[in-house]
Parts: sequence; structure tokens; C-alpha cells
Amino acid sequence: MRMALLLLLLGLGLRLATAQQLDIHKIVYWNYDMAKVSGVWYSISMASSNMSRIGKNGDLRVFVYNIESLKNGSLKFSFHFMLQGLCEQLAVVCEKTGRNGEYTIDYEGENAVLILETDYKFFITFYLRNLRDRTQTHVLALYGRIPQLSPIFLDRFRKICQKYGLGPNNIIKLSYIGGRRQAQA
Ligand SMILES: *[C@@H]1O[C@H](CO)[C@@H](O)[C@H](O)[C@H]1NC(C)=O
Ligand SMILES: *[C@@H]1O[C@H](CO)[C@@H](O)[C@H](O)[C@H]1NC(C)=O
Repeated sequence: MRMALLLLLLGLGLRLATAQQLDIHKIVYWNYDMAKVSGVWYSISMASSNMSRIGKNGDLRVFVYNIESLKNGSLKFSFHFMLQGLCEQLAVVCEKTGRNGEYTIDYEGENAVLILETDYKFFITFYLRNLRDRTQTHVLALYGRIPQLSPIFLDRFRKICQKYGLGPNNIIKLSYIGGRRQAQA
């Protein structure tokens, strides 16, 4: 009985691992179909030019669990964040701009939110430029359709971060442990 369960779990794990193929021909960089962006996403990794904003108690350290493209063209992000040790839930609506895949929102300052690339199926990469007290902060975020993405997606994210001047020390991994989101700095 226990063996059967183990085999079942192993099979499931293998299936998830092998199913996660990064097909670069399926990656979209512009002209996004926002209906396909909608749905469940998990925060996988984040990078920032100011680490205290995505570190413990950082105001931009958020754990996304859903993105919804609204009828009026706005984009709604639902996420969890930690506030004084408690897990809080929040949804914010980003307003569309004249450009496809680009949004703005007032949240801890003024923000421009851009999709950098996605394959809709496994991953999406966002770029956020935050302006607060005349200080600019760059943030990049990698979200996955499942709580864990294979290293190939993380490597790709690392390379994108590099283009924005963010090295390995600017990147954190947000991992999914026992049904709760936790982060390793
Ligand atoms: C980084 O963020 C922290 C926390 O919001 C802030 O106090 C600090 O001034 C920021 N540093 C820079 C260089 O922007
Ligand atoms: C679009 O709809 C959402 C949800 O009803 C609302 O919060 C947002 O302000 C709307 N945006 C515009 C530009 O009307």
C-alpha cells in the first residue's frame, strides 16, 4: 500500500519534471494575449536593486497566487504577504497604459509594471520600476504555473536580471514549503 503510494508520488514528480520543457519558440515578448496570462501563478524568484525591499519585511516581497485580466483592460494581482509574522491577503489592480503588456499602479510609490516575456504555460517574467521619495528601485519577478520550476527557467531569469544590472546577490528564491510560502535569502 505504502509502496504503491510512493510509486504514485514518484510518477507524479517525474511527470511534472519531464513536462516542464522550455520551448523558446513559444516564448512571447510582445503583443501579449492577456486572457492567456490570467489564472494561477506562484512566485518563484525575485530580484531587486534594493534588497531590503524584497527581503524579510520588505514592502515589495509579495507572494502572488492569481493574476486576472479584467474586462476594462486592467490587470488584477492577488497575493499574500507577511505583516508582523501574519500572512495577509491583498489584491491590487494595475491600470493599463497605451502599450500592450504595460501597466501602472500606486503601491508603495508609483510603479510601472511590464511583462518581459512569457510562454503562458509555465512561466512569466515581470519587471517593476518603483519610484518612491524620488528614489527608483528595479524589481524583477519570475512566476510559475506550478510552485516549482526546473533550473532552466531560473537560469533564464538570472540572465534577464543581469541585463537589468542585477547580479546573483540581488536575486532571492521564494520556495513553497509544506503549503506555505517561505523564502530563502
Ligand atoms: C532601500 O529600501 C529601504 C527600505 O524601504 C530604504 O530605507 C532605503 O533608503 C533604500 N535604499 C536605497 C538606496 O534606495
Ligand atoms: C477597471 O475595473 C477594476 C475592477 O472593477 C477597477 O478597480 C479599475 O479601477 C477599473 N479601471 C478603470 C481604468 O476603469
